[in-house]
Amino acid sequence: MPETMETKTKKPSAYVEAYGKSIADPEGFWGEQAGQIAWYKQPEQILTTDENGFYRWFKGGKLNTAYLALDYHVENGRADQTALIYDSPVTNTIRKYSYRELRDMVARFAGAMSGLGVSKGDTVVIYMPVIPEAVVAMLACARLGAIHSVVFGGFAPHELCVRIDDAKPKIVISASCGIEFEKHIPYKPLLDKALEVSKHQPDHTIIFQRPYVEAAMQPGRDLDYMELLQNTGPADCVPVDAHDPLYILYTSGTTGKPKGIVRDNGGHAVALKYSMQAVYGVDPGDVFWAASDVGWAVGHSYLVYAPLIHGCTTVLFEGKPVRTPDAGTFWRIIKQHDVKVLFTAPTAIRAIKKEDPEGHHKRRFDLPSLKYLFLAGERCDVATYYWVKDLLRVPVIDHWWQTESGWPMVANMVGYGLVPPEPGSAGLPVCGYKVEILGEDGKELIPAQEGYVAVKLPLPPGCLPTLWEDDERFRKSYLDRFPGYYMTGDGGYMDEDGYIYIMGRIDDVINVSGHRLSTGEMEEMVAAHHAVAECAVVGIADELRGQRPIGLVVLKDGQLIKEEQLEQELVALIREKIGAVAYFRNVLVVPRLPKTRSGKILRKIMRNIADGDHYAIPSTIDDPAILTEIHDKLKSRSIGKAFIL
Ligand code: COA
Ligand code: AMP
Repeated sequence: MPETMETKTKKPSAYVEAYGKSIADPEGFWGEQAGQIAWYKQPEQILTTDENGFYRWFKGGKLNTAYLALDYHVENGRADQTALIYDSPVTNTIRKYSYRELRDMVARFAGAMSGLGVSKGDTVVIYMPVIPEAVVAMLACARLGAIHSVVFGGFAPHELCVRIDDAKPKIVISASCGIEFEKHIPYKPLLDKALEVSKHQPDHTIIFQRPYVEAAMQPGRDLDYMELLQNTGPADCVPVDAHDPLYILYTSGTTGKPKGIVRDNGGHAVALKYSMQAVYGVDPGDVFWAASDVGWAVGHSYLVYAPLIHGCTTVLFEGKPVRTPDAGTFWRIIKQHDVKVLFTAPTAIRAIKKEDPEGHHKRRFDLPSLKYLFLAGERCDVATYYWVKDLLRVPVIDHWWQTESGWPMVANMVGYGLVPPEPGSAGLPVCGYKVEILGEDGKELIPAQEGYVAVKLPLPPGCLPTLWEDDERFRKSYLDRFPGYYMTGDGGYMDEDGYIYIMGRIDDVINVSGHRLSTGEMEEMVAAHHAVAECAVVGIADELRGQRPIGLVVLKDGQLIKEEQLEQELVALIREKIGAVAYFRNVLVVPRLPKTRSGKILRKIMRNIADGDHYAIPSTIDDPAILTEIHDKLKSRSIGKAFIL
């Protein structure tokens, strides 16, 4: 544990007062913030509980999120301001859309969907690359009060199918291809494959044909995006209840079935609007860039909804931090579009650092517009923090949140004058979040003791009210472990000054290149292989991606399959079922798995061995000798940070 940090300054009184009020009087605090957005009908009550006892915000309020993101600005002086800049080095395109243009595109596409029978409360799956049409599709759903569920384009048909079966969309919107560096990835065959096996069948698919790949269409079911627009007029915004879902976003849990995180309209709009100034320090009119994919929570909140609701210009980047065309792309975009705040994942910075350690590309651009770099998605290692801070000479702000929260839970809220004293901590609790570190018994731990990171209920607006059609799983996954708290799934500690340190997941969730994946799900897939008796998939440290999964496998008796062949088969299986993004590359055949005497697999110890971290051998271990065998096996194959020189 670090000692109390000497460089920490006294907290600004603006933060202390606002945070204190948000915890002591959440209704007063959020009631005031609700005044910052335009409601069709003001909420009757600020905080209530529903029939399940779950907290709900802004009961009785009526609004429309697409109205707030677009029409409101068109009507209030921002019609000609750029709403969205599409910057796509992979297609050599830069296109700007004003608020009026984007509003018109969205209204028209909403009209087209409405013509297909999509209306309030219907679900729509969006499986698209990072292109303006994806943003238009999301906002068009919001305009109609339909519930969108965006599926990350890097996911394979199996993952798409699971989500389609759970969300039961009336239509699925997709594109003919995505682009990964120089590779064109045809999406339509992946969608077709998902629909071949899904139990649920949408009425239609709408396909945006990109010029690089032409998707084969199934007449009657598949409709062409552009043709559909030709015969349609605009649709108006449909007022929805504050509690009505805006979207479902599936995220990895500990099993093969992802969790459908529900986001409501009212709490979401209020929280995101508030966060833009308070957390990120941006004003309406500023250019905000979240270098994310629309398929992730960051893409939803800070690429699409928050910057638009706040009247900013958002940048939609279709490319990679490197090789599109080089490690200077991020700096070129900041310069060219006057970006004030960049939000990305540490893995992106590590990729740039790896290709351009001296920062030569940065020297091509001075970046006077840039005020802050925000990082999230995984822990920011100290070396990367200092490298990028020295390079950019702006505050680098690590902050912590999850798909479930939809906006930051811990950060240095620059809007209240907080700046990070030094790396390592994700900052102080954000207004509305009473973050506590709990021990096994649910009691709050003293500073510097590591435990479960939990948030005292009620969660602030914007956080998940429940899981899609699964209240029971919501209760079991998040609320039951520590009554009165939301369990985040992360471990960590708080120092004497109240700064929070996130140490990593305590469950089967890993973060590969900022993509959240479930090792539990991979284990289920590996275990289904005919040669496998039992297995463990663990996330080990990866220099570039933060983490990557490896499999340790015990063969069934009598199985003679070679390790190399099994590895090839399992690597192909995970690639086919989850997608290449899982970055599952190694399988080790071991004689046994380390277990406690009661049969619990000791996954954390295997991770520690691979990472070269210190670990204590539990007294309950069944067979300590297996740890040495695993150590030697990893070493002989040079797998794991501890064994790569
Ligand atoms: N669609 C299809 N395939 C995808 C994909 C997508 N959206 N994203 C990644 N993949 C594929 C890659 O093409 C690669 O396939 P391959 O094995 O056939 O080469 C595989 O998944 C692994 O990709 P990745 O781990 O991303 O490695 P990479 O070398 O392609 O790129 C980085 C490395 C660091 C540049 C890249 O991971 C990156 O940009 N990371 C930042 C991500 C980010 O910002 N996350 C924040 C989310 S909030
Ligand atoms: P996701 O739901 O994909 O946003 O992933 C959320 C998880 O990513 C969290 O539960 C953390 O484990 C991890 N995470 C996100 N931000 C940070 C951060 N700043 N520091 C450490 N871990 C983080």
